[in-house]
Amino acid sequence: MVEQRIVSDDFLGKWQQTTNVMADVFDVPAGLIMRVRPQQIEVLVSSHTPGNPYEAYEKANLNTGLYCETVMATRSLLHVPDALEDEHWKNNPDVALNMISYLGVPLLWPDDEVFGTICVLDSKKRNYQQRYVDLLWEIKRAIEADFQVIEQQQKLMISNASLLDANQALLRSNADLKAALDKIVAMQGELLRAEKMSALGSLVAGISHELNTPIGNGLMLASTLKSNAVTIAKELEAGVTRKHMQDFISGVDQGADILLHSLGRAADLVASFKQVAVDQSSMRRREFDLRKTFKDILATLGPAIRKSGHEVVCDVEEGVVMDSYPGPLEQVLVNLVNNALVHAFPEGGQGHVTITARRLADDRIEVSVADDGVGIPEANIARVFDPFFTTRLGQGGSGLGLHVVYNQVTSALRGDVQVESAPGCGARFTLRVPRVAPLDPASH
Ligand SMILES: Nc1ncnc2c1ncn2[C@@H]1O[C@H](COP(=O)(O)OP(=O)(O)O)[C@@H](O)[C@H]1O
Ligand SMILES: [Mg+2]
Repeated sequence: MVEQRIVSDDFLGKWQQTTNVMADVFDVPAGLIMRVRPQQIEVLVSSHTPGNPYEAYEKANLNTGLYCETVMATRSLLHVPDALEDEHWKNNPDVALNMISYLGVPLLWPDDEVFGTICVLDSKKRNYQQRYVDLLWEIKRAIEADFQVIEQQQKLMISNASLLDANQALLRSNADLKAALDKIVAMQGELLRAEKMSALGSLVAGISHELNTPIGNGLMLASTLKSNAVTIAKELEAGVTRKHMQDFISGVDQGADILLHSLGRAADLVASFKQVAVDQSSMRRREFDLRKTFKDILATLGPAIRKSGHEVVCDVEEGVVMDSYPGPLEQVLVNLVNNALVHAFPEGGQGHVTITARRLADDRIEVSVADDGVGIPEANIARVFDPFFTTRLGQGGSGLGLHVVYNQVTSALRGDVQVESAPGCGARFTLRVPRVAPLDPASH
């Protein structure tokens, strides 16, 4: 611990001055500040005085009978007026340097550990009066006051170092957090893309299911017609009655009607699917009829709606042509209707979903999707558009549906979206978007 206490050059300079003045006032060749080292004692400061045999940073071994050793061991003042006249002192090592008189006091750290000594030595016999002794004590106290400062500085440095360490640790964990955040942001982007694609995926599933009926009907009819043709061919050889011929012809006629209807339905579905798929997979701007677009979307949602057992009614103003981005609008509608089917009616029973769309006086289009289900608790209302907010965690909820709605309405369609709900009274999502989207669509 003692070794860690470093004395800065500022203090050494100050003590040099003190020691110089001290040597001058005491009228001695040597004023010294000594510092104890393990096993040794070092001249830390030596007065710049004529005839001073001590040089700073000189070291002497301990246990050799030095004056200073006694001062440090007894922690008290030592006054040797003339070592040559003193049996105990006449052979001490400083006598070899001709320093025969000594006055010294110990220097102690604030925690009472020995720092060293401060002393004056002379080559002449000296009998110091009390005021000199008092003066030496004063100087000692001044230097020990500096020790307090040194110790405070050291403590500050240590706590500063630990602050720096803590800071480093914070910086590191900050970097870790940043990396984690980057990862989450990337993941979120990935999930958003996935959610958008899954809207398309559910459309694909819906369309395939929807096509099954007309194509299946068509197949069945075609094979009936085929077997009827085989029968009539046989009868033609054996001689066919007029009645059989008429039955065959009316059968073909009816079958063709049904076939035309089925294939027409299939062709319509394929056409709307083609449109939806193109719109959904691109951010294409075009003019489109509002009512027809809503009809196409509902056609693709047909199977999901029928499976849910709830009723969906759609009331769209006729003759409204939008010039905007149909893909995002379709995605919004699909997500809102799906949410109503999934979240609004958990207890089963017959629910109702009402979709309306109309043109407002300010040339915006207002679309609303309302249900008469359980509604959204007050506490959740502010959070439903947040990414990853879902009340169906682990049950297929991603919490991204309404986030996609919000994004598409605000950035692609340049409108706004609101939700109103009271528990038990259903939920209503209302969006208002420009009929003609502004140029320069917000980039995604
Ligand atoms: N029509 C609705 N009725 C009741 N709650 C709804 C309705 N639509 C959305 N919510 C609530 O909003 C939450 C967030 O919806 P969404 O972002 O689509 O995520 P997800 O459908 O994956 O849960 C849902 O978990 C649900 O709690
Ligand atoms: Mg959803």
